[in-house]
Amino acid sequence: MVQREKGAVLITGTSTGVGRAAAILLEKQGYQVFATVRQEKDAESLRQEYKSGSLTPILMDVTKAEEIKFAADIVSKSVSDRGLVGLVNNAGLLVDGPVEYVSIDDLRWQFEVNVFGQIAVTQAFLPLIRKAKGRIVNIGSVGSQISAPFISALCASKFALGAFTDALRMELEPWGIEVILVEPGSIASAAPDKVEESFQKNFANMSPEAKAMYGDTYKFFVEGLIKSNRTGMPPEQVAGAILEALEASKPKTRYFLSKGQISLVLNLILKKLIPDRNFDAMILKGLKLKNQN
Ligand SMILES: NC(=O)c1ccc[n+]([C@@H]2O[C@H](COP(=O)([O-])OP(=O)(O)OC[C@H]3O[C@@H](n4cnc5c(N)ncnc54)[C@H](OP(=O)(O)O)[C@@H]3O)[C@@H](O)[C@H]2O)c1
Repeated sequence: MVQREKGAVLITGTSTGVGRAAAILLEKQGYQVFATVRQEKDAESLRQEYKSGSLTPILMDVTKAEEIKFAADIVSKSVSDRGLVGLVNNAGLLVDGPVEYVSIDDLRWQFEVNVFGQIAVTQAFLPLIRKAKGRIVNIGSVGSQISAPFISALCASKFALGAFTDALRMELEPWGIEVILVEPGSIASAAPDKVEESFQKNFANMSPEAKAMYGDTYKFFVEGLIKSNRTGMPPEQVAGAILEALEASKPKTRYFLSKGQISLVLNLILKKLIPDRNFDAMILKGLKLKNQN
């Protein structure tokens, strides 16, 4: 294991997308990177690329307490009193579907990964962050600020992560530990393919009654979401914001990233300015939701 001039960081969910781009960028910038993945094949591909030891893949599912503990032990032994200068809580997924029909198990899973997993990882690595007076960067979403039909589970999980981030930032202020939320709009990562797969499965399993009520709008919404993700910002742009959050002398508490997604920015502004019912009406009009009365 090599020590590097900028210190050590741990990033979760580095098999694809933002996590992988952040791991590559931070290694290039002179950090010692611990990159967590869930599958041995992803660990092996990183090992092959970084034979110098500046980037160490670790197997860790953020929902498995024993894997988190194992990872914390490995990192602790490796960095010792130098601690960690950064923890990037990036791992995440999206559960879709109308609230009336989303399964409670799926809803729990959304929170297991996007919320409880992030907190469990944060708790496990905080002693190492404290040693280096490091920073914690949580990857939220524009869904940390605006909720939308058919992705309520994702938005609720990201709102919750935002709430934890705000509280933790205040709790850790006495130690000078910064806690930052990065809130990207659509990203062209591996996520849209996963959303398409999950939607196809959910849609196929919907009852005729559920399909009759929600099918058309749900499909319309998810197709739009997938399209906007596929043409979204590159994961490297989010990685750049993570670097900025780790290095800025006075980091922002939230980095909102929209890469020319004008309607997103407009929605955020309108959400703060106009009454809820007017905002709802605007979204519903866009979705062509039919009045069922
Ligand atoms: N895509 C977007 O439009 C968008 C927009 C705003 C915010 N975000 C957020 O950005 C972050 C990165 O997403 P992305 O777009 O880069 O998607 P991605 O390419 O699908 O990457 C997600 C990563 O999370 C990992 N992961 C999923 N479940 C996990 C678990 N239980 N334990 C550990 N790792 C797990 C995945 O690992 P596996 O490969 O093993 O599944 C993968 O490495 C997420 O927090 C996401 O919510 C995404």
